[in-house]
Amino acid sequence: MAARIIDGKAVAAEVLKGLALEAAQLREARVIATIAVVLVGDDPASHTYVRSKIRTAESLGMGSRAHILPESTPHAELMGLVQQLNEDPAVHGILVQLPLPPQINATEVLDAIHPLKDVDGFHPYNVGKLVQGGTPMPPCTPAGILELIRHSGISLPGKEAVVVGRSNIVGKPVALLLLAENATVTVCHSRTADVAAVCRRADVLVVAIGRARMITADFVKEGAVVIDVGTNRLTEGLAEGEQAGKLCGDVDFASVSQKAGALTPVPGGVGPMTIAMLMKNTLTAARLQSAA
Ligand code: GUN
Repeated sequence: MAARIIDGKAVAAEVLKGLALEAAQLREARVIATIAVVLVGDDPASHTYVRSKIRTAESLGMGSRAHILPESTPHAELMGLVQQLNEDPAVHGILVQLPLPPQINATEVLDAIHPLKDVDGFHPYNVGKLVQGGTPMPPCTPAGILELIRHSGISLPGKEAVVVGRSNIVGKPVALLLLAENATVTVCHSRTADVAAVCRRADVLVVAIGRARMITADFVKEGAVVIDVGTNRLTEGLAEGEQAGKLCGDVDFASVSQKAGALTPVPGGVGPMTIAMLMKNTLTAARLQSAA
């Protein structure tokens, strides 16, 4: 039977409706929840993401600031900007878009963001909180994935969850969130002996590896919930009629949609949820900082 397609755009729209009300409540308490987004360099995908974050904040009646810096920006200058944003009481959330150019020490920059303004959830304090089983500001993509799994109707306690990929942005934190929901969690990575065999155990399969269409039906148990975090630009292996540069996931949609129980599309799956969760974290940060 064909998989149910989990409509991330629709779920995100529902979440955003609730967040617009929260933003309005904060405004009544004279707090304009404000996010500062910092982008260094010319990466076109990063520019698209940043525009979309700013547009979404504005659509919710939240405040936004975009700091667009040249590719050549020195490390010390970026650190100075982060410090200034940390000290600015009108800014509640700070997001430094990754990746950063090579002259910048990304770890040092992320560690410099005040934990209460860390709407990405990447600061070691918030990562530590996540490991302990509770953070008010979980990383956005993993938090969005958990929302989508909830919407798929599957109950997580006792289920086999397999995460493919161990990045700090997605793989590791989503594994921790699944564990906090009492799933039995396995993380696969580039050195895993038989990725397909491990994936076939999964009731819930989360894929974040950055390899176009790597996960075929052969990796998927009949009826599993499959979450595709990949955003690859197709340059090879194009099917007939497909254009080079097309956005596609890590999951081979055509074959997996015939076997999975539910599946997120790319685009329109995880992506819209990430932005919604960023707005949620910004509202949380504003509340925590203003005690509103
Ligand atoms: N680049 C890709 N994903 C992310 C994210 O979640 N946060 C930031 N800051 N940069 C990213």
